[in-house]
Amino acid sequence: MRARLLAAAAGIAALLGTTPLAAAPDNFDQAERGRYLVILGDCAACHMNPNGSNTGSQGFVGGRRIETPFGEIATPNITPDRETGIGTWSADDFYRAMHEGIRPNGARLYPAFPYTYFTRMPRGDTDAIFAYLNTLDPVRNPVDRNTLPFPFNIRASMLAWNALFFEPGEFRPDPNRSPEWNRGAYIVEGPGHCGACHTPKNLLGGDRASQRLGGGPLQGWYATNLTTEERTGIGSWSVEEIAEYLKNGRNARSAASGPMAEVVEYSTALMTDADLRAIAVYLKEPPAQAPAPAARTALVATDERMRQGEALYVDRCMACHTRSGEGVPRMFPRLAGSQVVQQEGNETVLRVVLQGVRAAYSPHAPTSPAMPAFGWRLDDEQTAAVTTYIRNAWGNAAPAVTAGEAARMRERLRDRP
Ligand code: HEC
Ligand code: HEC
Ligand code: HEC
Repeated sequence: MRARLLAAAAGIAALLGTTPLAAAPDNFDQAERGRYLVILGDCAACHMNPNGSNTGSQGFVGGRRIETPFGEIATPNITPDRETGIGTWSADDFYRAMHEGIRPNGARLYPAFPYTYFTRMPRGDTDAIFAYLNTLDPVRNPVDRNTLPFPFNIRASMLAWNALFFEPGEFRPDPNRSPEWNRGAYIVEGPGHCGACHTPKNLLGGDRASQRLGGGPLQGWYATNLTTEERTGIGSWSVEEIAEYLKNGRNARSAASGPMAEVVEYSTALMTDADLRAIAVYLKEPPAQAPAPAARTALVATDERMRQGEALYVDRCMACHTRSGEGVPRMFPRLAGSQVVQQEGNETVLRVVLQGVRAAYSPHAPTSPAMPAFGWRLDDEQTAAVTTYIRNAWGNAAPAVTAGEAARMRERLRDRP
């Protein structure tokens, strides 16, 4: 009852635009609010059972290995099991972990756990998540927590890292912006931790703050530029197109694959339409001083790589993506004008061509066709040529791909598919 009253009070405050909770389904009780926040935070994508099951407690038993530039790190069990989970934690302990990245015993957590974003959550939100996690059945599942190689296995080193790259602090709404914008800002910068993948990292794995959401390589993919830049960012996408992509895993321009397909499946496809719109509204707002995009010139059509690539494209790709590169909306993504194809880094295009790709699963959209793998039909030089071609045909412009880069991606996919 008390929880309901508090939730109702939060609802009224939200209507007045005084808290970032606006638009959350706040007429439910605390644990139900926590259940939704867990969706916003995509917790299951990392903490679920590595065998792929994620219903109920299975979404939180841990054991999945997260790839970082420093090695792999296994996620812990966050069900309320007293021995192997967080069953003995208090709400204070939980807030401290989410807000500061510190465990009850004082040990530092690694930022593979995105506490650098979760710190933006107000106490009421972490309490709600904690209440929800405590409604789950406790599951015994001990996880080896110390898999990082030396020297990264020294948790105390996070003290220095935090001093350099971490600014704890709850989200502060901007009173000059609409409640919708603030809600979007809260989700993107807080629980949604979009920058954890979309902001490029420095050599120590810290966010390059000056290139917020500018895109960067990630686990053998390239997380796209999410700024309003026209060629590689989402400046030409409408609010509706962004929301549709997040809800269905695709829109008329693009399809989510790899790590973004997981974000869609476990998080954005399950968000409310109002929240998806709020995210889109926030992303469409250019930051105050956006760096000017570097001018790009396409390779000329007579370039040998372009000629070889075009012949391969006509032979292998055109049947689906069409001669003009426009594709078939929501079936075969367009490559002409595509953001994914023109990113600074070529990881995603190389991976997709070598390995093929399957669409994101969303309960709102029928499954779309998959793309077959070409790794066994194209050698490194041909792979480089056809990807160079799609990056520079039809008005596209992006750095050429080399055979060496194709070979490296092939090797990486052999080790870690
Ligand atoms: C991108 C992957 C990722 C996401 C998303 C994620 N976590 Fe984690 N989480 C981790 C990893 C990895 C660790 C272990 C870090 C370490 O050992 O230093 C961790 C640790 C934790 C811990 C500390 C547990 C302990 O025993 O030390 C808690 C609590 C936690 N996560 C809760 C959450 C909640 C709640 C969410 C969603 C709001 C969430 N996590 C989302 C990867 C993730
Ligand atoms: C686990 C890493 C990860 C997280 C977290 C993540 N993304 Fe992504 N995102 C990616 C990758 C990788 C791609 C490229 C996917 C592809 O090429 O199919 C992508 C693509 C996108 C695209 C499509 C852009 C384009 O030009 O095609 C949008 C929009 C997007 N993400 C929005 C978001 C938002 C909003 C969030 C936070 C709620 C988010 N992402 C969180 C990894 C991530
Ligand atoms: C049988 C049909 C088919 C053929 C042939 C094909 N593709 Fe695809 N391609 C697809 C589908 C379907 C997707 C989207 C998969 C998804 O939903 O993630 C896709 C996705 C892509 C993407 C990612 C686009 C994005 O927005 O995420 C690229 C790049 C791409 N294909 C390039 C190529 C190239 C280059 C060739 C030829 C070597 C080729 N494709 C041949 C069907 C095909």
